[in-house]
Amino acid sequence: MGRTMSALLWLFPLCFAGGVLVHGQGTPDTTGFISIDCGLSEQRSYVDGTSKLPYSSDDGFIDDGSNYNVSAEYTDLAYSRLYPQVLNLRSFPGPPGRRGCYTLSSFVAGTSKYLIRATFMYGNYDGLNKPPVFDLYLGVNFWKTVNISKPDVMDVGEVIAYIPADSVQVCLVNTGSGTPFISSLELRPLEDALYPLTNSTQGLSLIGRYNFGGDYLIRYPNDTYDRVWVPQTNQEWFTISTRLTVAMPVDDDDRKPNYDVPSIVMQTAVTPVNTTKNLIWFPWEAQPNHIYPLPGLLPVLYFAELELVDSEHERMFFISVERNSTWMLLGRLDYLDTFVEYRDAPFPFINPEDNYILLRAANATRLRPVLDINGTVLPPFINAAELFSPISTADVGTEAQDVSAITAIKTKYQLKKNWVGDPCAPKALVWDGLNCSYPISRPQRITSVNMSFGGLSGDISSYFANLKAIQYLDLSYNKLTGPIPEGLSQLPSLVLLDLTGNDLNGMIPFGLLIRIQDGNLTLRYDHNPNLCSNSSSCQPMKKNQNSKNSTYIYLLIAAAFMVGGLVVLLVLVMRGKQGPTKPQNEESDLQTRSRNRQFTYTELKVITSNFQRVLGEGGFGLVFDGFLEEGTRVAVKLRSQSSNQGVREFLTEAQNLTGIHHRNLVNLIGYCNDGEYMALVYEHMSKGDLQDKLKGRDDGDGCLTWKQRLRIVLESAQGLEYLHKACSPPFIHRDVKTSNILLDENLKAKVADFGLMRAFNHDGDTHVSTVRVVGTPGYLAPEYVSLLRLRI
Ligand SMILES: *[C@@H]1O[C@H](CO)[C@@H](O)[C@H](O)[C@H]1NC(C)=O
Ligand SMILES: *[C@@H]1O[C@H](CO)[C@@H](O)[C@H](O)[C@H]1NC(C)=O
Ligand SMILES: *[C@@H]1O[C@H](CO)[C@@H](O)[C@H](O)[C@H]1NC(C)=O
Ligand SMILES: *[C@@H]1O[C@H](CO)[C@@H](O)[C@H](O)[C@H]1NC(C)=O
Ligand SMILES: *[C@@H]1O[C@H](CO)[C@@H](O)[C@H](O)[C@H]1NC(C)=O
Ligand SMILES: *[C@@H]1O[C@H](CO)[C@@H](O)[C@H](O)[C@H]1NC(C)=O
Ligand SMILES: *[C@@H]1O[C@H](CO)[C@@H](O)[C@H](O)[C@H]1NC(C)=O
Ligand SMILES: *[C@@H]1O[C@H](CO)[C@@H](O)[C@H](O)[C@H]1NC(C)=O
Ligand SMILES: *[C@@H]1O[C@H](CO)[C@@H](O)[C@H](O)[C@H]1NC(C)=O
Ligand SMILES: *[C@@H]1O[C@H](CO)[C@@H](O)[C@H](O)[C@H]1NC(C)=O
Ligand SMILES: *[C@@H]1O[C@H](CO)[C@@H](O)[C@H](O)[C@H]1NC(C)=O
Ligand SMILES: *[C@@H]1O[C@H](CO)[C@@H](O)[C@H](O)[C@H]1NC(C)=O
Repeated sequence: MGRTMSALLWLFPLCFAGGVLVHGQGTPDTTGFISIDCGLSEQRSYVDGTSKLPYSSDDGFIDDGSNYNVSAEYTDLAYSRLYPQVLNLRSFPGPPGRRGCYTLSSFVAGTSKYLIRATFMYGNYDGLNKPPVFDLYLGVNFWKTVNISKPDVMDVGEVIAYIPADSVQVCLVNTGSGTPFISSLELRPLEDALYPLTNSTQGLSLIGRYNFGGDYLIRYPNDTYDRVWVPQTNQEWFTISTRLTVAMPVDDDDRKPNYDVPSIVMQTAVTPVNTTKNLIWFPWEAQPNHIYPLPGLLPVLYFAELELVDSEHERMFFISVERNSTWMLLGRLDYLDTFVEYRDAPFPFINPEDNYILLRAANATRLRPVLDINGTVLPPFINAAELFSPISTADVGTEAQDVSAITAIKTKYQLKKNWVGDPCAPKALVWDGLNCSYPISRPQRITSVNMSFGGLSGDISSYFANLKAIQYLDLSYNKLTGPIPEGLSQLPSLVLLDLTGNDLNGMIPFGLLIRIQDGNLTLRYDHNPNLCSNSSSCQPMKKNQNSKNSTYIYLLIAAAFMVGGLVVLLVLVMRGKQGPTKPQNEESDLQTRSRNRQFTYTELKVITSNFQRVLGEGGFGLVFDGFLEEGTRVAVKLRSQSSNQGVREFLTEAQNLTGIHHRNLVNLIGYCNDGEYMALVYEHMSKGDLQDKLKGRDDGDGCLTWKQRLRIVLESAQGLEYLHKACSPPFIHRDVKTSNILLDENLKAKVADFGLMRAFNHDGDTHVSTVRVVGTPGYLAPEYVSLLRLRI
């Protein structure tokens, strides 16, 4: 079982610590125990004399605060021999709101219930002689206020809580009444069946744990879970005891005890010395605090008959917790068998002076017939008690993925700030520069991170991309270098990304450009001299680039090409089958450069962000969405290896198109003929193809109006007419269909897909003969199919 494995693993640190504890038969299990002597010099550890448990220094659990020893006058207190842990401590100076947090992790599998104990002994360590008051948190849930009354008093906070995660933080929070400190911190795993009052939303904060009639402190190893049972005696009580083992009841369902008190604790009990008197006990020190001004009381009382009761006697008594009201009647308990009395709902808070527990024998004459008592009633007794106040552990804090991401970011940039504890909770202690959302009964999420002027250096952590709920990310004015992580574009809610004033390089990721284009992301990146948008190799990107600008550029391209087109065509024809090469004049204007641009396969990968977004599929292969460096959106038609259109068709399309430009023909921006890879780079047509539009598979712009339809027909025809009449040689498209008519932002039609296009070289002829029919069945002219002759 997993527990055995963990037990073996646990032995290793023990060996290194020089521990004398050997895990074997008869020795209680210490798997998962964490025992920290806070303030001990780094790397030190020792075996505690009383418990024989190894204690270690707190390095590895915390990275701030400073170590102190208590002042000399407090080193020789009676209990400091039992608890040497109190002789040194760690304190956390700082302003109100400052947290110091211990992270306890590497929990054993198989349990989610833990006992966590923190011990505080001031001992005038700081020479101020002013014991502080501060708050203690378990994770993000308030645990208790530590109010140190005197320098020599040992204050203990203990909680039994359900911890579903594999780590928990214990935090000390400065509330403006002195510097928080801690002397020791202990964690003990419990069986899940124990303390059923502890569940995922309720923890039990200990008021006290008492062993009646005991005469020394009982803890580990007598108590397997290292609970500390404090002996209780006084002169009005008489101790009864036994040497025989006292049994614990087990749950009917899983045969495990819900309450498990060591037999040695149950083997003693007290009863009133004056048998006619009640047994009264004033244990209650419930301390109201600012979170729980009226703390409730959850008592767990343990009884086991230690004397054989003959038929002449009866044991029967009433238990009261509030004055003048009876909680319950108890009697006829089994010999040497533990009976547990507890409450599901806490007793309400009463003024501390009025709190007591009273056990009163049911001896009144009038009760005898009712209770069916024949013999003499024996006085009441009690063996052990635990008193708790419930605390809420319902607040789950920040979502785990956000926590691990922001923690990784904190580590990477070595941030100090107030970045300790949970990032978002409690709300008053949210980390500097973070904003969070606080949904009811769900984990909190980080919604903004502002690390502006944070002195960050190195590259942008990829962990930012794990903050899935982030809306604002401000990294402006740092010394960040390297590229912008592509992953940032996957953040669904990101509306502002400010990278101003860094030293980033590379290109702006494709995904971010899409988001900008969609209009729901603002990207700021000024003053990054090496960002590609600003280098000589690519053009400055216009912010908020929209399709109007693109259209404008295309018109410019068109105009320029009308002039220069024939020249370029001539050059290409002369280069023939050697394939197109780069334009000779690198510095030529944008229009010409773009039109004839030859891309490498690597460049295409960058442009399409590794062929991430598919726009559609043609006979040629898949068509991918992409962005040129300057922000122009393009469609990249990559020839697939299995394409049924061959290399010849590809070259046909590429060569034909470089010489053609018309406002109703889709504009070729460039091509790639890089080894086995071939691709065409077209202008992006944002409204897709006409077929989808007619079928209603569009983006919700509604149906085309009659006027729009007429215009599309006219424009498509104008594109074809240009091919037939204006080009020299003329071209026949041979695959005109609605899916090859694309629409731009303004629903302007452009004919696309020129893979089957054929030049028609015979001047004056009005007919073209082909060897075979090509095109798409259903879109072929009947006379062409029957005669293999095309009329133009
Ligand atoms: C505390 O006392 C021990 C010796 O008893 C010493 O080694 C240690 O350095 C002291 N720590 C501090 C913080 O003064
Ligand atoms: C701390 O305890 C003292 C009495 O012991 C009390 O007067 C004081 O108000 C308490 N402080 C806080 C902040 O609870
Ligand atoms: C935890 O126990 C408390 C008190 O019995 C109860 O009110 C609460 O609903 C329980 N929570 C869960 C999650 O069961
Ligand atoms: C309790 O612990 C003491 C040592 O602290 C040991 O001598 C004793 O035998 C233990 N008793 C039981 C019942 O385990
Ligand atoms: C016992 O208590 C009763 C009052 O409850 C008192 O009258 C009696 O004297 C006491 N007996 C002894 C032996 O103290
Ligand atoms: C109970 O009543 C009997 C007489 O009926 C008396 O002898 C005995 O002392 C009483 N016990 C207590 C605990 O009051
Ligand atoms: C309890 O009852 C007694 C009289 O039997 C009375 O004097 C006292 O005030 C009551 N206490 C409370 C807290 O009600
Ligand atoms: C009390 O006495 C009656 C009659 O003698 C008997 O039936 C009953 O069981 C006795 N009760 C107890 C608790 O001994
Ligand atoms: C974050 O919270 C602070 C303080 O409430 C507020 O001033 C700031 O505008 C918030 N920032 C964002 C990005 O919401
Ligand atoms: C980030 O903080 C700076 C001041 O430190 C402020 O100028 C800037 O507006 C903040 N950014 C956001 C997104 O709130
Ligand atoms: C941004 O726009 C895209 C497409 O228009 C949409 O899917 C996404 O939900 C939007 N995101 C936000 C945060 O509005
Ligand atoms: C571009 O680089 C120049 C210096 O090379 C710099 O002055 C300018 O701010 C940069 N522009 C942007 C948008 O980063």
